[in-house]
Amino acid sequence: MSRAPDFAEIRPERPEDRAAIRALLTSAFASTAEADLVDALRAAGDLSLALVAGDETGLAGFVGLSRATLGGRPALALAPLAVAERRQFEGVGSRLVRAAIRDLEPRWSGAIVVLGDPLWYARFGFFPAPAVACRWAGPHMMALSVGEAASPLVGEMVYAPAFDAL
Ligand SMILES: CC(C)(COP(=O)(O)OP(=O)(O)OC[C@H]1O[C@@H](n2cnc3c(N)ncnc32)[C@H](O)[C@@H]1OP(=O)(O)O)[C@@H](O)C(=O)NCCC(=O)NCCS
Repeated sequence: MSRAPDFAEIRPERPEDRAAIRALLTSAFASTAEADLVDALRAAGDLSLALVAGDETGLAGFVGLSRATLGGRPALALAPLAVAERRQFEGVGSRLVRAAIRDLEPRWSGAIVVLGDPLWYARFGFFPAPAVACRWAGPHMMALSVGEAASPLVGEMVYAPAFDAL
């Protein structure tokens, strides 16, 4: 039976995915910085949510969200997000972001902060976050409040220590 072209199963990462995640990130970003970041976050226990998109060929995408604080309140940094080149522009990246938000919404309250294309992240409800202070502050800083209590999208964003290496 043939699959729909956008077939990709979204699921939490498993230990046996780690080498493929490294390969995917190294290829998507043309450097090992993001792969090293994910390995360091995972080793430190700071990778709060890591989802992969798997298809017949292997790993089609990855999104990681790591522990942070925004203005002293719980936050998550969404980074990195990557889709294998062979599967880009098929909706896999969008599905990974939506799945992460859907997973968190019933069980977690806080802000998700991402550095990314404002138009792309606006699709998922992210707002420009000019009041988020950190070394990456600027027009690409976007944030979304998740959970029952609305989180103010203001204050200093303190990333997990693994981000210091970037
Ligand atoms: C960015 C990325 C994750 C998008 O994933 P994807 O599965 O290709 O995206 P989707 O198919 O869900 O969405 C496609 C839409 O996003 C747009 N889009 C894709 N990449 C984009 C980018 N880098 N900036 C802005 N828009 C982008 C497409 O134009 C398309 O728009 P349309 O729906 O109006 O036609 C993927 O291209 C990728 O891995 N790029 C390399 C790594 C990277 O830059 N990651 C993001 C920073 S962490």
